[in-house]
Amino acid sequence: MFLNSIQLQNYRNYGQLELRTDNQVNLFVGPNAQGKTNLLEAIFALALTKSHRTSKDKELIGWEADSARIQGEVEKRYGTVKLDLMYSTQGKKAKINGLEQRKLSDFIGSLNVVMFAPEDLEIVKGTPGVRRRFLDMEIGQVQPGYLHTLQQFNKVLVQRNNFLKTASPGGHQQTMLEVWNAQLAEHSVKIMKKRKHFIHKLQRWAEQIHSGITAGGERLTIEYRPSFDGGGSEDETVLFEQFMLKLSQVKDQEIRRGMSLVGPHRDDLAFFINGKEAAVYGSQGQQRTTALSLKLAEIELICEEIGEYPLLLLDDVLSELDQHRQTQLIETFQSKVQTFITTTGLESVNISKLKDAGIYDVRAGHATRT
Ligand SMILES: Nc1ncnc2c1ncn2[C@@H]1O[C@H](COP(=O)(O)OP(=O)(O)O)[C@@H](O)[C@H]1O
Ligand SMILES: [Mg+2]
Repeated sequence: MFLNSIQLQNYRNYGQLELRTDNQVNLFVGPNAQGKTNLLEAIFALALTKSHRTSKDKELIGWEADSARIQGEVEKRYGTVKLDLMYSTQGKKAKINGLEQRKLSDFIGSLNVVMFAPEDLEIVKGTPGVRRRFLDMEIGQVQPGYLHTLQQFNKVLVQRNNFLKTASPGGHQQTMLEVWNAQLAEHSVKIMKKRKHFIHKLQRWAEQIHSGITAGGERLTIEYRPSFDGGGSEDETVLFEQFMLKLSQVKDQEIRRGMSLVGPHRDDLAFFINGKEAAVYGSQGQQRTTALSLKLAEIELICEEIGEYPLLLLDDVLSELDQHRQTQLIETFQSKVQTFITTTGLESVNISKLKDAGIYDVRAGHATRT
C-alpha cells in the first residue's frame, strides 16, 4: 500500500499541515525537537488509532487546541481510501471514506505500518510489558478482532482485580468469582491461541531474515512464554477447562495478593541466538539485529496475511546501523515497501542506495519539500 498524502490539524506541534508523500522513500530531515517523530507517529496513529510512544491520546492534541485530526489518502490494491481520525477530550472518531466507523477495530487495519525506532531494542531487553505491547499491536493490525477481544479481557481483568482486592479468604463471594473466572478464561484462551500462532509465523520469517543479515552466522528463535500452559492443546474447550482448573488452584493466592495471577497479562516471549537468550547473553549489536529482524519479519508477515506490503517507518535508526545492515535494510524495502525515514542529517544515510526519494525539511512544526 501507498500513502499518497497526509493532513494534520493540531496534532502535537503541527497546527496545519498538508503533505504529499508520493515518493517510494520519504526522508524527514531536521534538527532535534522539530516534529520529525511526530510525523511518523501521526502515520502510525492513522493505522492503529494510537501512538507508538504513549497510551495517552490526549498528549497527541496540540497544547493550544482541544482536538486533533489526522487524514490520509491510502492507495491499496483495490483502490484508494480516505482515512480520517479525530481525537478530542471526549475520545476518538474514525472515518473511512467519510463514513464513521462504529468500532475502532473496524478502522484499524485500513492502513498497515511497521515502525522501527531506537526504543525497539526494548522488545529484546526490556520488560515483559514491552513485549506484550509489541505482540498486541502487531496481531491487532492483521486481525482487528483480536483487539476487541483484548479490550473485553482488560475490562474483565480490572473488575476481577477489584473484586479480589476486597474479597477475604474463606469469604462467601464464591458465585461472583465464578462469573469473573468464566469470562476471564474465555477471553484468555482466545488471546493466547492467537499469540501462539502469531509467534510461530513471526519466528519463521525472523529466522530467515536474521540468518541473511548475519550471513548465516546466527540462528534466531522465538519462544512464547504464556503464563498458563495449556499442555499444547489447540481445542478451545479443552483450554478453557484447563484454565478454569488453574484458576481454582491459584484462588487462595489470588485473594491473598488481591490480583489475577494467570492470563495473557502475564505472558512473555523470549528471543534466542544460537540457543542462547538474547536478552541475557546477546551483545548490544546482536540485540539490535534481533530487533531489526523482527521488524523486517513483520513486514513479510503482514504481506502474507493481507496480501500487500505495509508502510515502513524508520525513526532515527538508519544512522545507528552500520553500512552492512543499512544496505540490508534498504535492499529489503527498496521498490516494494513505501518508507518514511527521519534523520537529523542526510550525511548519515546512504542516499546513493535510495531510488525515488522525496526529501522534506522539518522545522518547528512545518514540513516542506526541498
Ligand atoms: N501535544 C503537543 N502540542 C504541542 N507540541 C508538542 C506536543 N507534544 C510534543 N510537542 C513538541 O514536539 C516537539 C518534539 O517533536 P518530535 O517529533 O519528537 O521531535 P524530533 O524532530 O526530534 O523527532 C517538541 O518540541 C515538543 O515540545
Ligand atoms: Mg525524533
